[in-house]
Amino acid sequence: MPSVFIKTYGCQMNERDSEAVAAQLVAKGYSLAPSEAAADVVLLNTCSVRDLAEQKAMNKMKNLVGMANKNRPGQILGYLGCMAQSRGQELIDKLPDVDLVLGTQKFHRAAEYLDELLAGTRKKIVDVEAEAKSEATIREHLLNGSAKTSVSAFVSIMQGCNQHCTFCIVPATRGEERSRTIPDIVAECRELVARGVREITLLGQIVTSFGKRDLPAIGRADPPISLGPDAQQCVPTMQLSPFVQLLDTVHEIQGLERIRFTSPHPKGYGDDLIEAFARLPKLCESAHIPLQSGSDRILKLMHRGYTREKFLNIVEKLRRAKPGIGITTDIIVGFPGETEEDFEMTLSLAREVQFDNAYIFKYSPRRDTPAAEMPDQVPLAIREERNERLLNLVNEIAARKYDAFIGRQVEILVEGPSKKNAARYTGRTRCNRIVLFDGSQRHQGQLMDVKIERTGSFTLYGDPAVVNL
Ligand code: 5AD
Repeated sequence: MPSVFIKTYGCQMNERDSEAVAAQLVAKGYSLAPSEAAADVVLLNTCSVRDLAEQKAMNKMKNLVGMANKNRPGQILGYLGCMAQSRGQELIDKLPDVDLVLGTQKFHRAAEYLDELLAGTRKKIVDVEAEAKSEATIREHLLNGSAKTSVSAFVSIMQGCNQHCTFCIVPATRGEERSRTIPDIVAECRELVARGVREITLLGQIVTSFGKRDLPAIGRADPPISLGPDAQQCVPTMQLSPFVQLLDTVHEIQGLERIRFTSPHPKGYGDDLIEAFARLPKLCESAHIPLQSGSDRILKLMHRGYTREKFLNIVEKLRRAKPGIGITTDIIVGFPGETEEDFEMTLSLAREVQFDNAYIFKYSPRRDTPAAEMPDQVPLAIREERNERLLNLVNEIAARKYDAFIGRQVEILVEGPSKKNAARYTGRTRCNRIVLFDGSQRHQGQLMDVKIERTGSFTLYGDPAVVNL
């Protein structure tokens, strides 16, 4: 049977899509090749969020074409995912040796199309059509592949985004928001737990908008905890958004230990979600809240729908509801029109919030997005300079926060051997920090306590012996 190698660029959603395609192909009798050179089929699952990600995948494909022509004529080469969706046929026009271009609503057709290409019944396939109900087709998992994936799994709960931030290409690559049903998602989670999974990350481009179009918010009696003076607890019932209803339902699954989600929008952190962090013990104290900018003027130009003050308010409420919660963010520097003063607002907000980590992106103009046409595009040199300044600040704060763990005891879920050093095992704290320790196979999949002895770059080093005597 043919073998396939899939290389993934971009976000966790892309990782999940690749896993589902791999699982689908394995179920159809394909094997997973150990390298590109050894594979009958090579697929690049692509990202379009920034130009750099697109360039990387296109350069990779050029190399693959060169190698295939030299060493492996007949090798099937394909693009999947976001760039496939946004560029379509153009990718084959540029590189005529590419055989397959498969969009974000068509992952479930991969096996069928590859069979046709391998059999020679079709020469080229481009399928980037929209397909109703495709959001429910990413459900196969490959738990027997790497040891790590069997402990922790991603579950796709919705696709697409209607927010239309002016910088963002995602509405064009992933389409309109479509959500799976709660029973369908819960059935998938239950099946994963029955197969040994202990941690589930619920995934979507804007998970906090889950089910908004299909499910009403429901009321629930008095919230049991205090969220502070301006929170909703003065009213007798709290409205639970469909996303929080989903969290509640997934939380009931016996044997599941930890729940995470990504990626949310700040506007989704209503009191119901903040209260869920305090109420649901399995919901890990880790929140990614994409800030993008600390300047209200820029936030408005970005069409983000919140202000600096609103953002700070969310962080404050979360920390009150769940002390010690890990807070991470995404920030764009050099958005069109961003002045030094705007940028300094971002620096000051980063200082104020003290993020546990922040992913910083230099603004990259994307085709057919409003921001690409805005006046006052910021020169690359300034974007680079701001990137560096913000990165220094964020790293300094993050390092201090990591150091604060030294001497503390934390609970980790052990994922498996470390990639770099097989004698070391790797796990994650509930607030999503990576911990390395001297472990063995028997630790795999265990929830255990370790004492943090020292820190490395975005890593904690733990000792289980001290606390598990
Ligand atoms: N340029 C730079 N960064 C971007 N992101 C999204 N679009 C762009 C763009 N055009 C960043 C945002 C988002 C993260 C996934 O990627 O910060 O949260």
